[in-house]
Amino acid sequence: MNESATSTTVQTKDRPRGQLAIRLVAMPADLNAGGHVFGGWILSQMDLAGGICASERAQGRVATIAITAMEFHHPVHAGDVLSCWGEVTKVGNTSLTVHVQAWSRRHDGPRLVDLKVTEGDFVFVALTDAGVKRSVPADQERNQECSPHPTDHP
Ligand SMILES: CC(C)(COP(=O)(O)OP(=O)(O)OC[C@H]1O[C@@H](n2cnc3c(N)ncnc32)[C@H](O)[C@@H]1OP(=O)(O)O)[C@@H](O)C(=O)NCCC(=O)NCCS
Repeated sequence: MNESATSTTVQTKDRPRGQLAIRLVAMPADLNAGGHVFGGWILSQMDLAGGICASERAQGRVATIAITAMEFHHPVHAGDVLSCWGEVTKVGNTSLTVHVQAWSRRHDGPRLVDLKVTEGDFVFVALTDAGVKRSVPADQERNQECSPHPTDHP
């Protein structure tokens, strides 16, 4: 049987922004009372993903200081593969803003469907090892995305 006929990836015209930071499977234990994945679990994965991107750009420890925007576009189901993509969109003195998108991949019959389920803006502050805020180092070499991941765009 033709492989591509059974495993076509269907994408919306939208594409993930930035680089893949986290990919994991939503489990039944992550569901809310309504049967969809609890928003707090998704947010926590996005915070971790944003923290990875921020920490790479800040070259060290960071802490989340604010989430300035958050949109839940579609529910996530148990068994979905959740991918969190991050892009540093703003660098201040001690802070960095990371736009994080969560994409869900699930089967629709034999097809795989990718859907942007959630996105938000996470603000991090660069910290010293002692937990004191510090300036984000200048970095002309790096672009403002997470470093590339071996598994790039799905
Ligand atoms: C992170 C922390 C050390 C920062 O110290 P602080 O004195 O409160 O920091 P400031 O008020 O000077 O703000 C630091 C930066 O964050 C920005 N910032 C602060 N509040 C913000 C908000 N609500 N939205 C967007 N940016 C904000 C400031 O503009 C500043 O950016 P800049 O230096 O690039 O101009 C301190 O707030 C803290 O420990 N917070 C708790 C962090 C935490 O526990 N997070 C959850 C677990 S990671």
